[in-house]
Amino acid sequence: MTLLKAVRGTRDLLPPETELWNHVEATARRVFARYNFGEIRTPIFEDTSLFARGVGEETDIVSKEMYTWEDRARAQSEKSQSLTLRPENTAGVVRAYIEHKLGESGLLQKLYYIGPQFRRERPQKGRYRQFWQIGAEVIGPPSAGSESPLRDAEVIEMLSSFLDELGITGWTLVLNSVGSASDRPKYVAALREALAPVKDQMSLDNQRRAETNPLRVLDSKDPADEAVIATLPKIADFLDDESKAHFAAVLSALDACGVKYEINPRLVRGLDYYTRTTFEFTHGGLGAQNALLGGGRYDGLSEMLGGPKAPGIGFAMGEDRLVLTLLAALDQSVAPPQAAAFIAPLGEGLNAAALALARELRHAGLSVELGDGSFRLKKSFEAADKTARAIVILGEDELKSGILTVKTFATGVQTKVPRAELAVFLQ
Ligand code: HAM
Repeated sequence: MTLLKAVRGTRDLLPPETELWNHVEATARRVFARYNFGEIRTPIFEDTSLFARGVGEETDIVSKEMYTWEDRARAQSEKSQSLTLRPENTAGVVRAYIEHKLGESGLLQKLYYIGPQFRRERPQKGRYRQFWQIGAEVIGPPSAGSESPLRDAEVIEMLSSFLDELGITGWTLVLNSVGSASDRPKYVAALREALAPVKDQMSLDNQRRAETNPLRVLDSKDPADEAVIATLPKIADFLDDESKAHFAAVLSALDACGVKYEINPRLVRGLDYYTRTTFEFTHGGLGAQNALLGGGRYDGLSEMLGGPKAPGIGFAMGEDRLVLTLLAALDQSVAPPQAAAFIAPLGEGLNAAALALARELRHAGLSVELGDGSFRLKKSFEAADKTARAIVILGEDELKSGILTVKTFATGVQTKVPRAELAVFLQ
């Protein structure tokens, strides 16, 4: 029989590495709470048209990378429907914002999410077909201040604080402004004009994009396209005064709190919903897939999905990439967690008493490994040494007298400890 394995591009996350995942998530929850964000959980699959309309038909994500299927109607009351595993979470959050009329409170909605996303990309280091994002969105009616450049700066400042708190150093923040919806047509027209005489020199994909969605030409990672891309007009030269002032205000707020950045006029990001501020945090240690996270403003997304005017800004971090970066700093491995004690019953007749003792210690908040009375003492010691800081021996004498024998591995010292004092001793 052929052995079944996890599907290409997916993987199992195992202990002790999952400790690191939990640590990253706990740090995110702690930091986001300080900025008064609440958690949102949206479904893992959605109507395909949400992504086609939100992320954009001509993006790589929608045109090549989605896991989409036709969900057949089972009953007469059901219609068949095209469904897609979410490739990102912003479209889902904005759909939920519209569906639950969250804008009617008149307040800014500050929502974060943690969960798997799916893209059928070519797997490589830091790039998977099922990957995890930790993201957040700030969205609301303009009267709540959702368009303010202060929101952009605050979100970016939060990210720099998060990475510092997590202990990830050596990142670079790259920023750009892609202008408003009204700046876009002028820039796209200029791109079309510049591309017309040279587009044949590019990859087939980019020749197609030059026709259908010229902005996406800039996303190409094909080295064959680099020379042409370098000659194309820059979006910075097409921003109107309002967009320029907005970007300048974001930069000055970042300057005021000492968050360092670089400006990259080619950072347009691979999703169609962006307006004005776009950004990425990169890390040299990641190799080719060097974006730790990406985000930006999407002032028109709610309206694109049929909702009210609700400007917003957000980001998503690649959790897989955060963990890879932390693992590199730890020299590729996480020490397995150690229980406070391993309880070794001397004989199967003592198994039940051992479970009762383990229950007592666990109720006192200790982490406990429970051996088995069928083990020889030597085997118990070996197992205990690998998994716990101390071994507690429970024989008939110990059970009757209530005085237990404890050996602490770090010191090699063996001690008699009354049962009532055991939890405190092991702490
Ligand atoms: P994105 O740039 O497509 O943006 O993805 C954000 C981050 O997710 C990337 O920087 C990367 O760390 C991680 N990522 C993306 N694809 C993969 C993959 N195949 N394997 C591992 N990690 C990956 C978005 O998804 C937007 N929704 C972000 C956003 C939120 N913009 C505004 N709000």
